[in-house]
Amino acid sequence: MIPMTLAEVAATVGGTLVGADPTGRVTGGVEYDSRLVGPGGLFVAFAGEHVDGHDFAAAAVAAGAVAVLGTRAVDAPSVVVADPLGALADLARAALTRLPETTVVGITGSSGKTSTKDLIAQLLPALGPTVAPRGSLNNELGLPTTVLRADEQTRFLVLEMGARGPGHITHLCRVAPPRIGVVVNVGTAHIGEFGSVEKIAEAKSELVRALPADGTAVLNGDDERVRAMGALTAAEVVTVGESAGTTLRAVDVTLDDRARPAYRLCAPEGEVAVRLSVSGRHQVGNTLAAAAVARAAGLPLAEIGARLAELRPVSTRRMDVFDRADGVTVIDDSYNANPASTAAALRALVAIGRERRKVAVLGYLAELGGYERAGHEDVGRLAAELGVDRIVVVGTGAAPIHDGARAVASWGGESVQVSDQEAAVAVLRAWLRPGDVVLVKGSRYRTWDIADALRQPDAVGVSS
Ligand SMILES: Nc1ncnc2c1ncn2[C@@H]1O[C@H](COP(=O)(O)OP(=O)(O)OP(=O)(O)O)[C@@H](O)[C@H]1O
Ligand SMILES: [Mg+2]
Repeated sequence: MIPMTLAEVAATVGGTLVGADPTGRVTGGVEYDSRLVGPGGLFVAFAGEHVDGHDFAAAAVAAGAVAVLGTRAVDAPSVVVADPLGALADLARAALTRLPETTVVGITGSSGKTSTKDLIAQLLPALGPTVAPRGSLNNELGLPTTVLRADEQTRFLVLEMGARGPGHITHLCRVAPPRIGVVVNVGTAHIGEFGSVEKIAEAKSELVRALPADGTAVLNGDDERVRAMGALTAAEVVTVGESAGTTLRAVDVTLDDRARPAYRLCAPEGEVAVRLSVSGRHQVGNTLAAAAVARAAGLPLAEIGARLAELRPVSTRRMDVFDRADGVTVIDDSYNANPASTAAALRALVAIGRERRKVAVLGYLAELGGYERAGHEDVGRLAAELGVDRIVVVGTGAAPIHDGARAVASWGGESVQVSDQEAAVAVLRAWLRPGDVVLVKGSRYRTWDIADALRQPDAVGVSS
């Protein structure tokens, strides 16, 4: 972060220094995990339900922390505050006001925030040093921590903004006011907490409402609820998508045998041919959004086209397509799942599978609330309608997927319901043949093990 004395830190967060030299300088990162603290860093201690961060103060200091910011003084230089989370926000806000040359890009949406963030973070370095979060740090903890990694050299700060309720994105936009905002889509992720898709759209729109008049709102023009947000912002609106009338439009979209899209990117100033190295048709929209951000930041269209071809997946377990020595192709998309991202993954399975046998291993979709049963059934029905040959439904929570698939009368495939990951691996061991394509999809840890087992050919061998 930009260097700050402990006196400045205390003044910024309204804290009290205890056993600390006010002239001591924080020059390193601000971390709430003591294992990530480095020389010159500031360690933020949270008293959690199971673990009390204050217990790790000594470890943080041993790793080089200049001080510990927490709710009580510890046996180390301390900045004592009532609310460390609020203090983290104040610190991030104050640091950013000292960086007037840094353009903040905020990204929200129901699925694809991290994927799009990774794409943007690969394009913007063409224009200047860029800071973006590791993985999916997108809440009131991860966002300020990422902001505090920016320094005077940083030209672009790319931030993922997640919401579990109304007001969350407004809060994040106060911590880091964006000049460019991207809304990827509005779906049913976290609908359990929100109650309805309309409320989710309302929450996502907080990002475009926060944009200034000289800013840019990048909106998915193929998503009706997102397109409607154009009326809610003072910023210039740039729509992206495949629909007629979008500012940046993908036309003539094709997919190769890895479901890697190619398309013509048409902009008001001209057009450029794009051939992607990332898989899944949903990457058309994600790359258009990334292109729109780079364009708003000043990158010419021709250069955007060339750089889009270079983009690689960065965060793990998202559309990670690999071939095994035994001829089985695996799509590891097991990072997380909701109905929209599962639909995108199933479409990729079918695009890659074409004439091959297509197997979908589908786990529980978390956080659907009252939509839980219908959401799972929809996924099963879609898998069957798309012509997936075999479905392994993992865990009792995911059982309606099995029901949804079998309800499709015309479907000639087979679905089995298994209790856990191990049982799923056993089924795959019996089923898989050379040439099969297997998708692994579910909410986090519930399906990761299956994808990992498929990475080891011995564990899930192919019977001939
Ligand atoms: N535009 C999109 N539409 C639908 N699914 C998508 C899209 N982009 C990515 N996905 C898929 O959605 C899943 C989650 O992707 P990603 O991690 O990028 O989303 P996220 O919004 O950051 O999720 P989280 O809320 O968990 O942080 C992955 O399986 C990914 O392949
Ligand atoms: Mg994410």
